[in-house]
Amino acid sequence: MTYGLLKGKKGIIFGALDESSIAWKVAEKAYAEGAEILLTNAPVAMRLGSIKNLAEKCNTEIIPADATNLEDLKKLMERAKEKFGKIDFMLHSIGMSPNIRKNKPYNDLDYDFYNKTLDVSAISLHKMLHVAEKTEILNRGASIVALTYIAAQRIFSKYSDMADAKALLESITRSYGYRLGNSLGVRVNTVSQSPTKTTAGSGIAGFEEMFNYADKMSPLGNATAEDCADFCIMLFSDLTRKVTMQNLYHDGGFSMVGISDAIIEEYIKNNK
Ligand SMILES: NC(=O)c1ccc[n+]([C@@H]2O[C@H](COP(=O)([O-])OP(=O)(O)OC[C@H]3O[C@@H](n4cnc5c(N)ncnc54)[C@H](O)[C@@H]3O)[C@@H](O)[C@H]2O)c1
Repeated sequence: MTYGLLKGKKGIIFGALDESSIAWKVAEKAYAEGAEILLTNAPVAMRLGSIKNLAEKCNTEIIPADATNLEDLKKLMERAKEKFGKIDFMLHSIGMSPNIRKNKPYNDLDYDFYNKTLDVSAISLHKMLHVAEKTEILNRGASIVALTYIAAQRIFSKYSDMADAKALLESITRSYGYRLGNSLGVRVNTVSQSPTKTTAGSGIAGFEEMFNYADKMSPLGNATAEDCADFCIMLFSDLTRKVTMQNLYHDGGFSMVGISDAIIEEYIKNNK
């Protein structure tokens, strides 16, 4: 079912790699809800992923941009300006840790990798908003959403330096949200999503166990990528005009549970 929630709106979606990507689902739903979108991802993702199929489906183009590179971001926003004039929403759905990829433990991080994790997964949001502001591409009341994970607030032992990146991402959300709210009425929020079976998600050691644990802890079960897309669409829409600088849990209730019956039963079963 569609509601025309984004009719007439224009936006940029960062981070759709393949059909499992959260950004992929957001792009499909934004298009279905009446938005016109531009897709972007790192140049390497053009070779690895299937984003071209998504562009065809959404009747749009892909502008390659490394989200850590200010020149790339400038070119992207200039193209968006040519195409749309101004935009109404942006999705930041970007995350990557070379330390996790190379199995470096948190107390033995490679510091160049650590900088890369922070740059790609968090500072890229700052750069994106900086370039958007300087190019004056944001419409009054535009909505920016970035995806995060509860490891910013609590320890998830295998999430390593990505937890630090998410804490920074959420802080940038507040800092920029304050400024852009005052100057342009622009909203900036993070969505803290359940573990989701995607390329980035599955790269975390013990992901399957984290996924199953969260599912058993959450009264509503894990939120899927598609559920997440619905939530993002609501945040892009005019129905959330006064929501900003928030970290919004979209996790089936996981963040509010200490222990669940399902987890207790699992322990009883395993100890028999
Ligand atoms: N999958 C999960 O369990 C989960 C849970 C909570 C939050 N998130 C967050 O959701 C977001 C999207 O991840 P996903 O799970 O859909 O995985 P994904 O692998 O599909 O998406 C990650 C994207 O980041 C892009 N990217 C990496 N480096 C980049 C760069 N330098 N410039 C531009 N793009 C770059 C990748 O190409 C990819 O498209 C991430 O921020 C992730 O941390 C994921």
